[in-house]
Amino acid sequence: MLDFDLTEEQGLLERSVREWAGREVAPRIRELDRAHRFDPGILPQMADLGLLGISVPTEYGGAGMDYICLGLASEELEYVDTSLRVIMSVHVGLNSLTLLSWGTEEQKQRYLVPQAQGRTIATFGLTEPSAGSDARGIQTVAIRRGDHYELTGEKMWISLADVADNFLVFAWTDLEKKKERDPSGMSAFIVERSFKGFSSGTLTEKWGILAGNTGHFKMDAVEVPTENLVGREGEGFKIAMFALDQGRYTVAAGATGLIRACRDASVRYATQRKAFGVEIGSHQLVKELIAQMESDYQTSRLLWQRAGWLKNQGRRNTRETGLAKWFSTVASERAAGDAVQIHGANGYSDEYPVGRFYRNCKGAVIYEGTREIHKIMQADYLLGYRTDRPTRCELPAWETR
Ligand code: CAA
Repeated sequence: MLDFDLTEEQGLLERSVREWAGREVAPRIRELDRAHRFDPGILPQMADLGLLGISVPTEYGGAGMDYICLGLASEELEYVDTSLRVIMSVHVGLNSLTLLSWGTEEQKQRYLVPQAQGRTIATFGLTEPSAGSDARGIQTVAIRRGDHYELTGEKMWISLADVADNFLVFAWTDLEKKKERDPSGMSAFIVERSFKGFSSGTLTEKWGILAGNTGHFKMDAVEVPTENLVGREGEGFKIAMFALDQGRYTVAAGATGLIRACRDASVRYATQRKAFGVEIGSHQLVKELIAQMESDYQTSRLLWQRAGWLKNQGRRNTRETGLAKWFSTVASERAAGDAVQIHGANGYSDEYPVGRFYRNCKGAVIYEGTREIHKIMQADYLLGYRTDRPTRCELPAWETR
């Protein structure tokens, strides 16, 4: 039986995130955005709401909520500002849920528990200055030396790079395979900011998601204990792709929230502003833009919820998550552009939020799989060039865990 109603817990979560973000962040987001300022004071508040460990089981310090709740939280957060949702994407989606699925018990106790409780903040390090879409093209290396690996390399476009305590980092452990671009030569590691040889910085030239922290980090012969290898040596590429299944899910749900924010702002404006003697909402060309936003919002919501439903059941969802991410981010760009258009010259000013939505939406059409990568993946599934094979570790189903 299909059921489109939220459960009591899901509804409560949706309302509490909406109320908190509307009360605590919405009134000052314009100023934070204009000042290019990430407010670290937001993190303990998110921790108090349980958001930083939302779909992590209670036995590992999390809130034990299902993956639909993770999507709902992402949607509500991005309704207010993309920078809030980005925290969920890297801390929960890309990092914590990966440790939950691939980490050893010791790694879960040492890293996952404090992350889920919000006592430490985590992010992800795959992208490099010369390798984004081409994940096999990374240059970072990890050389085994007795009881540790020595990591050298540079990561770029990392959300929370200057904020996080822990980083899930991808590096080549087999240099012969690196030459051949054979991904079975890549491994995943937990790197702490406090490790000697680690340094980070913030990107200051970014023109969107200005209330978020985005940066780079460098590892100069950083000694990482062998206990911090995540999964087995050689499983790093799969772990990175697995992590993106959860990261892309939060991006899809977040973009859905952005479309709703554009729709609501546009409806408000269209019923207040008059042109040619009537509310602009009564002009058919404005109606068309608003109707498209509603269609995009409802479609995006169905797509991410289907992916979340599959996650709850413990079923592979790379294909469905990718489709949701691709559709909703492209639709959010359309919605934000049209929201600015409906606002006319006012849309071109920071007095209204739609200009911020327009700047914020573009990033998600690029990160966590560009529009083009997702198009190719969807075509490849249909053409039989790509299939999702079972992996050694899967995201634990919600009902059974
Ligand atoms: N889960 C588990 N395993 C997976 C997987 C998944 N989702 N997807 C692929 N794999 C496995 C495959 O099964 C395969 O293993 P086997 O050969 O043993 O079956 C192996 O991984 C290699 O997979 P592919 O052959 O599919 O790999 P590919 O090279 O063809 O992938 C690509 C190409 C799809 C374009 C991929 O490189 C890709 O997704 N690129 C985009 C990367 C991206 O999204 N980067 C953004 C990172 S975000 C960031 O770093 C910034 C930040 O702020 C955090």
